[in-house]
Amino acid sequence: MTRDISEFSGTPWRDIADQIPQRARAVPTMLKAEEQALYFWIARDWAKGAGAIVDLGCFAGGSTARLAAGAEAAGYAAEIHAYDRFSANEKTKENTLYPQGVAPFEGEDIRPLAERLLAPWADMIALYPGDLLQSRWHGGPIEVLAVDAAKSARAADRIADRFFPALIPAGALIVQQDFLHRRQPWLIAQMHLLAGAAVPVAFCAHDCVAFLVTEQIDRDRLAAARVEHLDDDALIGILTEAAESPALAPVADRIAGAIHAVRANPGERRAWAFGRA
Ligand SMILES: C[S@@+](CC[C@H](N)C(=O)[O-])C[C@H]1O[C@@H](n2cnc3c(N)ncnc32)[C@H](O)[C@@H]1O
Repeated sequence: MTRDISEFSGTPWRDIADQIPQRARAVPTMLKAEEQALYFWIARDWAKGAGAIVDLGCFAGGSTARLAAGAEAAGYAAEIHAYDRFSANEKTKENTLYPQGVAPFEGEDIRPLAERLLAPWADMIALYPGDLLQSRWHGGPIEVLAVDAAKSARAADRIADRFFPALIPAGALIVQQDFLHRRQPWLIAQMHLLAGAAVPVAFCAHDCVAFLVTEQIDRDRLAAARVEHLDDDALIGILTEAAESPALAPVADRIAGAIHAVRANPGERRAWAFGRA
């Protein structure tokens, strides 16, 4: 089934946050309210069960729970694959898990927590603990790929290499969770270099952008969209082109912020090492 950009007109995911079942909402997440609604809407209203749903960087399972609850509500046989290191330090526990109702616990391993929180959908979810950059995709078609782990240019390239070729042409979405985050400017470059095969269809407050895959992302396309090797001038050149492209015009001012961040952090390609400017 060929999917169309028009399915996203009118931002149908907005204002449905209260339709997310309570047991999914109870799973702690770093996603903002509109992003949670987008994930739920994608799985419930957009996806048809034509391929797997893959969640790269699921933390304690919050994004996975919204996706699973959406698939459950839609009623198709969902296959959800969730990847993470499943590790949280004291700061993350105090800032994210405890304020969302998790009882204080010892240690950094959150895999048991994620398993417990995702138990209502255990029959549809497979968890993959560890470094996802070392993992392989089994090769089956992917209908929804949520990317929240491309925290370096190297990771963005690795994720694309492993998962993008399995995306169903004209029938898959890539959700780039931190697409417009100033600490991850390589994502804008990567998706602009893939503009012939994936178009932005949903701009979701504040940083998240979803792309409809329009054509097969093959090895040649991947080679042309690599970002790790780009020096600052090359990266800024691609970001400037992206900001001028009609597809990304709605976020041109955010791309200008990303260019500023590259200039303020010369040579840096790791989100966690970016400074404030
Ligand atoms: C912003 S958080 C994800 C938030 C999550 N989607 C939610 O709903 O709360 C990013 C996650 O990516 C994971 N991550 C980043 N790089 C990774 C890697 N190479 N392998 C496995 N997990 C990784 C981190 O452990 C972290 O939990």
